[in-house]
Parts: sequence; structure tokens; C-alpha cells
Amino acid sequence: MDSALYFLILFLSTILPLLLLLRATVFFSRRRRHLPPGNLGLPVVGETLQLISAYKSPNPEPFIDERVNRFGPVFTTHLFGEPTVFSADPETNRFILQNEGKLFESSYPSSISNLLGKHSLLLMRGNLHKRMHSLTMSFGNSSIIKDHLLVDIDRLIRLRLDSWPDRVFLMEEAKKITFELAVKQLMSFDPGKWAESLRKQYVLVIEGFFAIPLPFFFTTYHRAIKARGKVAEALSLVVRKRREERERGEIKKDMLGALLEGDDGGFSDEEIVDFLLALLVAGYETTSTIMTLSVKFLTETPHALAQLKEEHDQIRARKGESQALNWSDYKSMPFTQCVVNETLRVANIIGGVFRRAIDDVNVKGYTIPKGWKVFASLRAVHLNQDHFKDARTFSPWRWQAPTSPGNLYMPFGGGPRLCPGYELARVQLSVFLHHLVTRISWVPAEEDRLVFFPTTRTQKRYPIIVQRRAVS
Ligand code: HEM
Repeated sequence: MDSALYFLILFLSTILPLLLLLRATVFFSRRRRHLPPGNLGLPVVGETLQLISAYKSPNPEPFIDERVNRFGPVFTTHLFGEPTVFSADPETNRFILQNEGKLFESSYPSSISNLLGKHSLLLMRGNLHKRMHSLTMSFGNSSIIKDHLLVDIDRLIRLRLDSWPDRVFLMEEAKKITFELAVKQLMSFDPGKWAESLRKQYVLVIEGFFAIPLPFFFTTYHRAIKARGKVAEALSLVVRKRREERERGEIKKDMLGALLEGDDGGFSDEEIVDFLLALLVAGYETTSTIMTLSVKFLTETPHALAQLKEEHDQIRARKGESQALNWSDYKSMPFTQCVVNETLRVANIIGGVFRRAIDDVNVKGYTIPKGWKVFASLRAVHLNQDHFKDARTFSPWRWQAPTSPGNLYMPFGGGPRLCPGYELARVQLSVFLHHLVTRISWVPAEEDRLVFFPTTRTQKRYPIIVQRRAVS
């Protein structure tokens, strides 16, 4: 054989594949070397099953603790079908949240996007997101709450509490409260048959968020998609009616009113419906859970409950039995604010946020490869003993200390996607606690325990036995 041909065959059959293999090995080992240390777990499922079993227990902390002890606060794992960089580090979390849209972007599976609708704030990106986020923030800011929303928050919470029988599932009652508040604030509807039938469909939609999206009829996910259609239809009808009212010159000052106005002629019906539906999703489950858990934690910490009662009895003594709370009352509840902070810290309703790296990103000397998932764990920071003394104990008094935990505390996230409902949620919880402790005393009807997967909640919806407090 011609020696040139011999070398060509040798090169193509042996040397070229070897060179390619060497290049690939160098490339991947370089990338691996820069990845945060960690364990990808089993093929396909990774460490998902360990995470789920930890979060289904009342004490999920060991899942994070073990990995942080072995690998440090930024580690690699494999969750829900993808390699993921997990951050339990406050600085890295802040970096991830602040760089939304630049180095990272929020990322939801398509099953969730279908339920939310493509025009929801949670799925928007870029300038439109910026504009709509600031519109939503301005709708829930303190001066709007003070001048418009507080009066309804006070009235609707009081009405609900007065209708309670002797035994209630607190989680259910709290959900009714937050839904009624949201419907009132977003589109000026008072509680009634319409709101309740919307809520029933809506509960089915929420179940879909935590269901496996199987493509069969009669599954929870399929039922949720159908219910979403019904909710969207009901909301579309409201939007059409409100457009007619506007043409007749009747203007309502609520979120729907702001969307119909818009700064360049308003939005389409479909855009408004998606937008409203996502706001209902974001505010309903979170605030109702925090209401329930604050009561659970207070019940288990009688000294804190007694101090809270004293603060609110004093406000009631000033105002008499039936006068509504105003902004200055809300501002004179210092211990309540400690209880709110502490409940948010210990409960961690949103335990963390998922993002996707838009580019290769350097963090703490490691590389997060482009396209990889990142999980900024807020929970891991809030429950870290190095950051908060006795971090795993509910202790509202820690918030009376003059030094604030500053950037360590992020129950509402941060950066461009900071929760636009953060002030509203705090006010709703404070007013709820006020009317609860001044009107009612309660004991748990059964033992109930916390679980954290698929959402943070108590297993039995926290049943309580209720007694009206004698009016002093
Ligand atoms: C205790 C109650 C609440 C907690 C703990 C909470 C927490 C959070 C967190 C951590 C985020 C950031 C998500 C991310 O970065 O991807 C967020 C976003 C959001 N929250 Fe809340 N939230 C609460 C109540 C509310 C309420 C009452 C509303 C209703 C106005 C609301 C509306 C939203 C919306 C629309 C977003 C998405 C913002 C965006 O993507 O630009 N939340 N919330």
C-alpha cells in the first residue's frame, strides 16, 4: 500500500478518534473541574427522590445540611431531571436574583406555564416584565394600601371570622379570606356566590401546579387545565363588562381598572385575564399558608401569643369594639411585625427560586455552565445557625435586636422579580392576627404537623376549636 494512503487510513481510523476523545475529555474535565463540587446521584432521577422524601417530612434540613457540610454552600446536584447548582449561600443567592435577565432567567416547566398563561407576570421577560412589574408594585404599595385597600382588608377579615363555626380547618378559612381579598382588590367584587364558584374552579387549577402532567383525561392535571379554561372564561366576562362600563364613564380604581387604562391604550382581554389569574395564584396560597402557620407557631409558643394579645387588646381598648383599623393602628404593632418576620423566616413558604443560566457564569471560583438550572435556596439561609442564632426555633423576639439581618433575610425574593405583594401580604397577616386574637381563643382540635412538599403546609389543614372571647 502507498505509504501516504496507509497514514491516511491510520489517521482516520485511530489517531483522529483518539484526538477527538482527548479533546472532549479535556473539554469536559475542564468544565467539570470548574463546576461546584457535588453529587449527581442516580442516572435520570439524580437526587430528586432524596429531596422529595426529606421535604415530605417535618424536618427537611438534613438534605441541605449534609451537602453543605460535604461540599460547601454552593454545590452541584441533579433535581427534577436536570443537573442543578444549589446555592445555600446568601451572597450567591443575591447575585442570582439581582442578575435576573442578564445572567439568569426564571424558568418554569411547560406544564406550569400552560396553567399560568403566557401573559402572566411570572413568565414575562425584558422590558414588558419591567413595566408590568412596576405597575403591580405600584398597585400594592403602602400608600394604596393605606388609602384604599386597608378598609376592605379589615372589613372582609372581620366578616369571615364572625362566620366561623365552633370547629374550623384554619387553612381552609385562611384560603377563603385571601381569595375574597384578592377578588376584591383586583376587580372590586364582594364575597358572594360568584366569588365562591370561581374559587372552587380555582382550587382545581392550583392542584394542577403540583400534579404530574400526564396526557390522559381524568388526571389532576387535565382537570386543572379544564378548570383554568372556566376561570379564564369567567374573568373574560368580567373584563368585557368593565370595558362597557368604562365606555359609559364608570371608572373603578382597582388593578383591572389600571390594566384597562394602560399607558398605551390598555391590553387585550387575553393578556388581562392571564395577568389577573397569575396574581391570584401568587397571592392566594402563599398568604393563606402564612396566616395558618403564624397561628400554629404562636399556639406552640404561648409566651409570644400572650405578648401579641396584649399588643392588640391595647389597640382595641383605644378604639372600642367595632371601629375599623386604620394605617396608624397598623403602624403601632411592633411585636406583630416581629411575629410576621419570624413566621416568614421559619416557614419559608417559597423555599427558594429556580433560574436558568443564560451564559457560563462564574460564581465563587466555579463555573455554572450556560443552560444549567440554578436553585437559590432562601430556606437554607434563613435556617442556617451561622446566620441566625437558634435558627430553627420560632423566636419573634430576635427581631427586637438593634442589628438587622439585612441582606440575609429574603422571604419575598429580590432583584427585578421581588414579590410585588410583599407589603400587602404583611398587612393582611397583621390585620388577620389582630381580629383573631381580639375576638377568638382557640385550641388545636388534633395533632397536626408541617410538611414541605409539594408545598409548605400542615398535613391536616390545621383544625382548631374556636371560642369567642368575651368583649371586655
Ligand atoms: C406571604 C406571602 C408571600 C410570599 C412569601 C411571597 C414570596 C414571593 C417570592 C419569593 C417571589 C419571587 C419569585 C422569583 O423570584 O421567582 C414572589 C414573586 C411574586 N409574588 Fe409573591 N409572595 C407572597 C405574597 C404575594 C401576594 C399577596 C401577591 C399578590 C399581589 C404576590 C404576587 C407575586 C407575583 C406576581 C410574583 C412574580 C413577580 C415576578 O416574576 O416579577 N405575592 N413572591
